[in-house]
Amino acid sequence: SPPLHDALKPLSWLLGTWRGEEGKGDYPTIKDFKYKEEVKFDHVGQPNLEFSFCSSHYETGKPLHREKGFLKIQPGTSHLALVNTQNVGIVELSEGEVKGQEITLESHTIGRMTFGKDPAVTKIQRTFRLVDADTLEQVVHMETSATAPAQHHLSIQYKKVA
Ligand code: HEM
Repeated sequence: SPPLHDALKPLSWLLGTWRGEEGKGDYPTIKDFKYKEEVKFDHVGQPNLEFSFCSSHYETGKPLHREKGFLKIQPGTSHLALVNTQNVGIVELSEGEVKGQEITLESHTIGRMTFGKDPAVTKIQRTFRLVDADTLEQVVHMETSATAPAQHHLSIQYKKVA
């Protein structure tokens, strides 16, 4: 693959394929659940990473929530934008910061299909953190049209597999 764009050096720790075997999900309005998820961060030499998050059912392995998008960095700064498409019919634009090996992001725009199910997601907050050289963690909080302020939805640790 081409050399990593200089602007992406602060994000190089995300690159690769990661697999989470025991994600934990909850929300005040739903039953607690466990899930698996494979995450890939890749690049083509541009000042952005492309990613995919593919979750699956904890027991059956059946595909569940899926996301694909780009993580952009404002060159020369620690300011990030996450441009993300979710298979449930949501598009997410989040912004935030990278500090060392931790990223915090909060949505400023969420687009939604006219025929999306209620409740609507009204805010998404994410953190990514490198726990150690081959362990990545993601935590997601969200707010919906039925529940505010933002509350926990997902926590997962991934191991680096490639
Ligand atoms: C439920 C949003 C990622 C599994 C929900 C609900 C919303 C939501 C709005 C309905 C809550 C309610 O009824 O009050 C999101 C957003 C995500 C995300 C914005 C990403 C940022 C995931 C992932 C999984 C997942 C990765 C992994 C399997 C579930 C499950 C339910 C649920 C099992 C409950 C059952 C259902 O209503 O379908 N999510 N979700 N979600 N989510 Fe997520």
